[in-house]
Amino acid sequence: MQSKNLHFEPLTDAHADELFSILTTPAVLAFIDPNGNPPTIEELRTEYAARSHGPVVLATPTEQWFNMAIRLKIPPSPVIGRLEATGYGEWGEVAYLLGEAWWGKGLAFEAMLWWHDYLAAVAPGTAWWAAVHPLNQRSIRLLKRLGYKKVDANQRPKLSSYDVGDCCFVRLPS
Ligand SMILES: CC(C)(COP(=O)(O)OP(=O)(O)OC[C@H]1O[C@@H](n2cnc3c(N)ncnc32)[C@H](O)[C@@H]1OP(=O)(O)O)[C@@H](O)C(=O)NCCC(=O)NCCS
Repeated sequence: MQSKNLHFEPLTDAHADELFSILTTPAVLAFIDPNGNPPTIEELRTEYAARSHGPVVLATPTEQWFNMAIRLKIPPSPVIGRLEATGYGEWGEVAYLLGEAWWGKGLAFEAMLWWHDYLAAVAPGTAWWAAVHPLNQRSIRLLKRLGYKKVDANQRPKLSSYDVGDCCFVRLPS
């Protein structure tokens, strides 16, 4: 699975070590862990192992988890980030992160374009939602470039990634 500059690999605990160093930087955590409780490497391994198996206890029968590690094609081909989506049938939520060293190059945009093509194949007809801290302008610009529309937060479905005050965006299926 690939795009022009990137390879995509189903996320497993084997990705935890490389992603740990990316995840636990202040810039990456600023808007996704505002309380400053980053995971330990052991917690990350356990979390990724669980993600690779899907939800152990299904909250709803239609819940589906999708997780990919993003690897740069150019040698030494590091893992540079991850893509997430949880689908609940007609709607779902997405999340994404790249290590700070790879920001500002259009790589998140490239990865997310590929992600939406992938999700359209495995979960067709899903409206994808994202909840974003209002000061996370990089993420908001990315969502707008991807065709997401801002929606009043009162109209959101039950987004597990929503924190009070977040902006909500939705990309309807084409
Ligand atoms: C959100 C996040 C993924 C955005 O990454 P990003 O690199 O800014 O996003 P893009 O790939 O869209 O890159 C856009 C930038 O690359 C530039 N760029 C360079 N070449 C480009 C190309 N070929 N195509 C598109 N953009 C390009 C754009 O001009 C833009 O720069 P600007 O932001 O200074 O205007 C990243 O900031 C991140 O991981 N943050 C931490 C985790 C997080 O907050 N996740 C979101 C939670 S809701």
